[in-house]
Amino acid sequence: MSTARAFRVLQVRNLPPAAQARLEGIQEIEIVRPRDTSRAAMLDACESVDGVLSLLAEKIDRELLDRAGPTLKVVSTVSVGYDHIDVAECKARNIKIGNTPDVLTDATADLAVGLLIATARRFPEALRAVHEGTWGKWTPTWMCGTQLQNKSVGIVGLGRIGIEIALRLKAFKMGPLRYWGRQNRDGHEQVQAVGAKYCASLPELFATSDILIVACALTPETRHLIDLPLMQATRDHAILLNVARGSIIKQDDLVAALKEGKFQGGVGLDVTDPEPLSPQHELLQFDRVCVLPHIGSAALETREAMANLALDNLMQGLQGRPLTCSV
Ligand code: NDP
Ligand code: DGY
Repeated sequence: MSTARAFRVLQVRNLPPAAQARLEGIQEIEIVRPRDTSRAAMLDACESVDGVLSLLAEKIDRELLDRAGPTLKVVSTVSVGYDHIDVAECKARNIKIGNTPDVLTDATADLAVGLLIATARRFPEALRAVHEGTWGKWTPTWMCGTQLQNKSVGIVGLGRIGIEIALRLKAFKMGPLRYWGRQNRDGHEQVQAVGAKYCASLPELFATSDILIVACALTPETRHLIDLPLMQATRDHAILLNVARGSIIKQDDLVAALKEGKFQGGVGLDVTDPEPLSPQHELLQFDRVCVLPHIGSAALETREAMANLALDNLMQGLQGRPLTCSV
């Protein structure tokens, strides 16, 4: 005898295996799958759903909310970032939004440090040399990059991930560590533990740091925050890293800054604008630019934890209970 399903939930792409099995085992949920992963198919499939399991590649905007209609109670995203969701519009319609902070912080901070070392020590060029047969005899100057110890670091956005990056960099004997954001957090225990100091001026942070790391949220205020004048103020040998969202950096300006000889220490990007980035993109022509395909949280344990938290949020939202993590 079939059990009546109480809630219809739109799911565009599969979760990691254990979480997908959990979702499919929830008796109250009928999973609604679009015919394909296109926007048009998602819009067609979302009509009258109660919940949306959201991924950051898919926009949850007014058009989608209109198509879903008044049944929609909760949008649960499998990400900490929620810049793909029209939060104001959801709130106006009393739709809850769940996200997945904390469970991905370590994985993302690990990736940031990996990307920093790969960029500073020229891994992409070095790997190419091995594969392309341009690896010759050992010489003292070949493939030299930048040493990390004692380098000054400027973190844009000392939130959960920023703090964990700072902790790791401290273990690499880097410093002084400074950060910029809307709030001076010098009094916070974690900030004191890493010894980071607030810098109230972003231009000053850019002009006086050897290594700049972007780890803030993407909001209307931080979109294109890092533009050409800011980049022109950096030390020529500076390294720029972005593990947050691509459009926090004005990407055409970054190309212009690289052409002007900025960031000779390298640029490491886990995120770009757009994603995926075309293999023909000008950024990829620079030897010292190391681009990863948005894999900050891509450890299977992390992705399972994110998906599980998203499922908790989803069920709570469907049942009208407070969400474990909400926006
Ligand atoms: P938190 O909310 O803990 O930190 C966000 C930071 O952004 C805070 O330091 C905050 O500082 C800063 N911020 C927010 N708004 C502004 C603003 N208008 N101007 C300046 N700074 C601002 O988030 P997490 O550390 O957990 O995550 C940060 C971001 O990292 C996510 O939003 C996501 O986009 C990205 N991310 C990327 C991943 C990847 O795979 N590469 C993985 C996970 C996250 P303050 O409040 O002081 O302004
Ligand atoms: C997020 O969670 O915001 C990341 O970008 C993907 O893990």
